[in-house]
Amino acid sequence: MSAPQVQVKRREDAPSYLQGGDLGPWGIYLEQVDRVIPYLGSLSRWAETLKRPKRALIVDVPIQLDDGSVAHFEGYRVQHNLSRGPGKGGVRFHQDVTLSEVMALSAWMSVKNAAVNVPYGGAKGGIRVDPRKLSRAELQRLTRRYTSEIGLLLGPDKDIPAPDVNTDAQIMAWMMDTYSMNQGATITGVVTGKPIQLGGSLGRREATGRGVFVVGQEAMHRLGMKMEGARVAIQGFGNVGGVAGQLFHDAGAKIVAVQDHTGTIFSDTGFDAHALAAYVAEHRGVAGFPGADVMKPEEFWSVKADVMIPAALENQITVANAHKLRAKLVLEGANGPTTPAADDILRDAGVTVVPDVIANAGGVTVSYFEWVQDFSSFFWTEEEINERLTRIMRGAFSAVWQVGEENGVSLRTAAFIVACSRILQAREQRGLYP
Ligand SMILES: NC(=O)c1ccc[n+]([C@@H]2O[C@H](COP(=O)([O-])OP(=O)(O)OC[C@H]3O[C@@H](n4cnc5c(N)ncnc54)[C@H](O)[C@@H]3O)[C@@H](O)[C@H]2O)c1
Repeated sequence: MSAPQVQVKRREDAPSYLQGGDLGPWGIYLEQVDRVIPYLGSLSRWAETLKRPKRALIVDVPIQLDDGSVAHFEGYRVQHNLSRGPGKGGVRFHQDVTLSEVMALSAWMSVKNAAVNVPYGGAKGGIRVDPRKLSRAELQRLTRRYTSEIGLLLGPDKDIPAPDVNTDAQIMAWMMDTYSMNQGATITGVVTGKPIQLGGSLGRREATGRGVFVVGQEAMHRLGMKMEGARVAIQGFGNVGGVAGQLFHDAGAKIVAVQDHTGTIFSDTGFDAHALAAYVAEHRGVAGFPGADVMKPEEFWSVKADVMIPAALENQITVANAHKLRAKLVLEGANGPTTPAADDILRDAGVTVVPDVIANAGGVTVSYFEWVQDFSSFFWTEEEINERLTRIMRGAFSAVWQVGEENGVSLRTAAFIVACSRILQAREQRGLYP
């Protein structure tokens, strides 16, 4: 995944360690904050807080490779804001990771956690590495050294990492073990997204896709759209898109188009999403799914659909394709799939976009449940988890919808108004130290 390239000219808005014409993803975030400030009333006095990460740690991660040589990797952990609670956010292993990207992702976590009202601040981490080029043993050494290097920031009441791009339950198990070894006691609550046997939560794997489906149901209801027979197009049929697709299918919608890194497939009558998920698990992509018509990749965005779910990468709906969308509703399963300029095009065309900070917040919500269960060492049933997740997602969506209606703004701006107000209220009530 390559970082979105956005030219942001307001250099004075950037912390001095990020000077330059191209601020990357951090520039997109600053633009989103600027759109919200006029709606923050007296809290706008504190808005500068949102434009500066609380702290950013850059670490050198040296490891011995299997051939005996030593390699150095660049690692980051950024805590954007801790006013509402400990830092929470994933760790990404990717060759394109930059400080700008980790800063933006940490800020979006502050907004997401506040939008669904879980008691966390925002954080994010990453290592600039292509993990496919490492052996399993090298990956374990990299994860453990990185965890030790950022260990001074971590802890169940300080900062709690989780999986993100190219990190999974095994990496979380290694992080938990490394932190526990350094502390001299098993501390499961230091990370979420762990294996179930190590204090992970039932329903965590499906949580993000389930959240996309729940907010989709709510949005369709408010827009007067019928679920039965609704045409749905999904980019990315992995953890998020695959689960969301199966839930939409079960609710009576038709999954008419799916695009992933192997191809784009179409079925006017709709795919059996469960059969497609099983096929993807076996063949690692949708290409070749029996009975599917093949589409050109660029045709995907103009497919006749009522609901479009980008659930793969950043920077997918842009000025180049936004005007082609025929869907009435976009549910952002991925983080940052729509650029600010494309957002404006969609708004002018009357397309409702449920932004990532609400649509994909199901994952962090069940991570919150995992952390709570770890503290009490008492584990809930999957039914309890899904029921609580649905309640939180519906409540968060409804609050954002109402703010959008009251202010005549997009759901993205509304979500930022709700979230930034909560963050800055906490800032104000706590007061400045000293
Ligand atoms: N998993 C979570 O809990 C979670 C939570 C919040 C946000 N997200 C975001 O959702 C997105 C997807 O995450 P995931 O966990 O489903 O990942 P995943 O690895 O399970 O699936 C990614 C999907 O994207 C597809 N893809 C990759 N490159 C593509 C390309 N060039 N064109 C089209 N499709 C492509 C892959 O084929 C795959 O189907 C990411 O943006 C991630 O940050 C995930």
